[in-house]
Amino acid sequence: MAATIFLGVESSCDDTSIAVINNEGTILANVVSSQIKEHAPFGGVVPELASRAHLRNIPVVFQQAMDQAQIGLDDIDVVAVTHGPGLIGSLLVGVNFAKSLAFGRNLPLVPVNHIRGHIRALFLEHGDLPLPALTLIVSGGHTHLFLVETPDHFVLLAKTRDDAAGEAFDKLAKMLDLGFPGGAIVDKLAQSGDPKAFPFNMPRFSDGALDYSFSGLKTAAAHQLRRDPQRFSEPEGQAIRDLCASFQSAVVRHLLQRVRQALKVEKVASLSLGGGVACNSHLRQSFRELGDKYRLPTYITAPKLSTDNAAMIAAEGRHLFQQGITGSLDLNPEVRLNA
Ligand code: KG4
Ligand code: ZN
Repeated sequence: MAATIFLGVESSCDDTSIAVINNEGTILANVVSSQIKEHAPFGGVVPELASRAHLRNIPVVFQQAMDQAQIGLDDIDVVAVTHGPGLIGSLLVGVNFAKSLAFGRNLPLVPVNHIRGHIRALFLEHGDLPLPALTLIVSGGHTHLFLVETPDHFVLLAKTRDDAAGEAFDKLAKMLDLGFPGGAIVDKLAQSGDPKAFPFNMPRFSDGALDYSFSGLKTAAAHQLRRDPQRFSEPEGQAIRDLCASFQSAVVRHLLQRVRQALKVEKVASLSLGGGVACNSHLRQSFRELGDKYRLPTYITAPKLSTDNAAMIAAEGRHLFQQGITGSLDLNPEVRLNA
């Protein structure tokens, strides 16, 4: 029997991506077109510019993915698309592209939740993870700690009450005029900074919830800058490196503090980490050290499958389709969607 070919479409934020995987879950193509140049002058994603760029990019990215996978239109069997959460204008481009393709070729259409896609990326890369798993998904839009009980059942243990971890990195970079997107730049500068140079208090909630909060860390960094602007005036100077290292260390401490708290309550067989912030070198190392300490196998997605990509969407689409779950052509994007 010929392999079933799944096409994944992702356009929820500022990356236009189309991927092709087969029924074994092998990635045949995973093309990502970034819009960094579009948004860099503004220091953040501008929704209207993002949707226009998706419109321009999506046919090109589609053709590149088809060429890379060495397939034609006739070979596509199933279309999977991110329908939320995300920016409405951005989501509309991907959803309408996928709907047109499904309608034109009479193909099944599978709606995919972006956050579940980030979790599925871990299965796509690492196969059958030992379950239950404690899974941290950290990106520019979300910070979620899940108990992944089965390949289908994910219990949300904690989420951010304000900024996402990646958003906090991006905002620090904007304050320091480092460029966009800031996470990777902060990571690089932090490598030659002192993580103990500036104090940051760990966020706490009076109700004792396991949730995350990053806005206090951001305010504390802004306070340091306001107190002594002269000290931070040299571009990429030592004070800036020290602040990046101290801030990054506080973000990672807060992320792992909740994982440790959850480990006191939940009995798990593995730890896993995904989402764009999983590219952070200090987080990757600290997460692995935590796994070693608790003698738990630890899985982290490779950078290409950590940041937004359509391979994870195609993989989640394949998983749903194999259980007989499909959507209909009146599919609409959902800006807010729980995992
Ligand atoms: O998963 P992703 O591509 O998009 C969302 O779903 O949001 O994540 C992008 C986020 C951005 O905030 C970016 O600054 C952050 O991931 N990021 C990093 C690093 N690389 C990307 N944050 C910290 N350190 C990094 N090395
Ligand atoms: Zn994402």
